[in-house]
Amino acid sequence: MNATGRSRLHQMPEWTALGKHREQLGQTHLRELFAADAARGTTHALRVGDLHLDYSKHLVTEETLTLLRELAAARDVAGLRDAMFRGEKINTTEDRAVLHTALRAPRDAVIEVDGENVVPGVHAVLDTMAAFSEKVRSGEWTGHTGRRVRNIVNVGIGGSDLGPAMAYEALRSYTARDLTFRFVSNVDGADLHEALRDLDPAETLFIIASKTFTTIETITNATSAREWLLTGLSAGQEAVAKHFVALSTNAGKVADFGIDTANMFEFWDWVGGRYSYDSAIGLSLMIAIGPERFREMLDGFHLVDEHFRTAPAEANAPLLLGLLGVWYGAFFDAQSHAVLPYSHYLSKFTAYLQQLDMESNGKSVDRDGNQVEWQTGPVVWGTPGTNGQHAYYQLIHQGTKTIPADFIGFARPVGELPPGPAAQHDLLMANFFAQTQALAFGKTAEEVRAEGVPEELVPHKTFRGNHPTTTILADELTPSVLGQLIALYEHKVFVQGAIWHIDSFDQWGVELGKVLAREIEPVLTGGGPGEGLDSSTAALTAAYRALRGR
Ligand code: F6P
Repeated sequence: MNATGRSRLHQMPEWTALGKHREQLGQTHLRELFAADAARGTTHALRVGDLHLDYSKHLVTEETLTLLRELAAARDVAGLRDAMFRGEKINTTEDRAVLHTALRAPRDAVIEVDGENVVPGVHAVLDTMAAFSEKVRSGEWTGHTGRRVRNIVNVGIGGSDLGPAMAYEALRSYTARDLTFRFVSNVDGADLHEALRDLDPAETLFIIASKTFTTIETITNATSAREWLLTGLSAGQEAVAKHFVALSTNAGKVADFGIDTANMFEFWDWVGGRYSYDSAIGLSLMIAIGPERFREMLDGFHLVDEHFRTAPAEANAPLLLGLLGVWYGAFFDAQSHAVLPYSHYLSKFTAYLQQLDMESNGKSVDRDGNQVEWQTGPVVWGTPGTNGQHAYYQLIHQGTKTIPADFIGFARPVGELPPGPAAQHDLLMANFFAQTQALAFGKTAEEVRAEGVPEELVPHKTFRGNHPTTTILADELTPSVLGQLIALYEHKVFVQGAIWHIDSFDQWGVELGKVLAREIEPVLTGGGPGEGLDSSTAALTAAYRALRGR
C-alpha cells in the first residue's frame, strides 16, 4: 500500500469492520463479559518483564482484539517498528532517525545511522557521565572555592526537564540523600528564585540541559543562574567551568554560552527531546542514583524494547495498549486518558507522559500532509491515587464521559515508611483494587435498593460501571521497573502514531507561540509599536503596560 493509501484509515475494510463490530457490541456490559468467561481475569493478562498487565476490564471481546490486530497488520505497524529499530529516518518532517532504543542497547549491539554504528558513542557518553557522577557523589568534584558540590540544579524545559525531574522523584529512595537536587524549567523567575534562595553558590552545580541550546526559557534561566553564581562568589567568568556543565547536541552554542565543551555531555539529533531522559539528559538522575542504578534502569527500558520488537501480536503489550486507545478514541468518542499511579513516588509520572503522548500524537495532519479524519492523541491527565479519589474520580464514576484509565501499583513499598499503621501500604493497594472493580462493575439500582436506600436517592447512588481500565502491577518501583514502564508507554504512543499515520516525532505545534512571544515582548516593555495586533491582544498588552506604569 502506498503512503497516501495508508493515510485513508477510515476507508480501510479493517476500520469499517471495527465500526460494525462496535455497533454490535452496543451497550454490552463488563458484568456480562465477566459472567460469560469465568477465567477472563487470568486469560486477559500479560507478563512483560516485571510488569503484570491486566486488560480484562476493557470493553473488548475476542473478536474486538482480533479486529484490532488485523488493523495493526493492515497499517504495517510492525514494518514501521522495524524501520525505527533499524535507524531509518522515520521522522520524515525533520528527516531524522528515531533511535531512543539505541540509548539502552547493549555495548555490543550494532545500530547504524547513515552507515555509522551509533552504539559505541552512546556507551562512551554513558561512561563519561558515570565518571563525572562518581566525582560529584564522592565529593571529589569541587567548586571554584574548593568546597565540595552538594547542590545540583538541572535547568531545562520540556523533555530536558520532565524526564529527569520525574525519574528523580520516582527513584527518590535510591538517591544520595546528602545531595540536594532541584529542577528549574519555567521562565517565570520565581522558579529559579525558589530553587536557589537557600543554596550556597560555592556548593552548587548547574546542569544546563538543552538539546538545541537555543530554547529561550533555558538560556534565560541559565544566564540568570550564571549571574547569581558569579555575584555570589564575587568571581569572574573563570568560576563557570567548575559550576556549569551542559547536556546538548549543539557544541557551538554551548561554547558561546561560556561553558567549556570539555564539560559537555553529548547526545544526538536522533534522540527526540521527550525520548531523551535515558541519554545525557539524565545526568542529574545519574548523579542522584549512581551509575549502577542508572544502568539497571536502561536495562529495564531495553527489556521492553526487545519485548515490543519480538513478541507476537497477541502477547505484545505496547501494541495492545496502543490499539485499545485507538478503539476508545474512534468508537467510544473518548477524548481523554487518565493515568493514575498508586505510588507517591510517581507524582510526576503523568506530567511526564503528557509530553510524551500529547507532543507526539497531538497532530491533525498525516504523514502525507492530509487532514486526518479520525481522532488522534487523547488528552492525558491524572495524579497519584488516592488523592484523585477525593477530587475528580466522581466524574469518572458518575459523569457522562468515557475515560479509559491506567492504574499502576506496586506490591511492596520502596524503602522505609513512617512509623504508624503497619498496613498503610495494604490500605493504599486496597483502594487501588477497589477503584477498578467499582469502575468496571458499578452498582445497580437493585443493589442500591436492597440496601434500603430511599427511592428518590436510588439514581444518585447507582453506578453504571462499564468504565474501562488497565491495571499494571509490579513488585516494587525499582530503577528497572521505571525503565520498563516508560518504554511501555513510549512504544504505545508509537503504535498509535503508526495506526493514525502521523509523524509522532516532530513538534511543529509549539513553534507559533514561540514566534509570537518574541514579537510581543517588545510591546510589553514599551519599546515596540504593537502594530498589527488583534484588538484583544492589543487591549490586553495595553492594560499590562498600564499596570506596570509604562
Ligand atoms: O516544546 C518543544 C521542545 O522542543 C520539546 O520537544 C523539547 O523537549 C523542549 O522544547 C526543550 O528543547 P531543548 O532541549 O532543545 O531546550
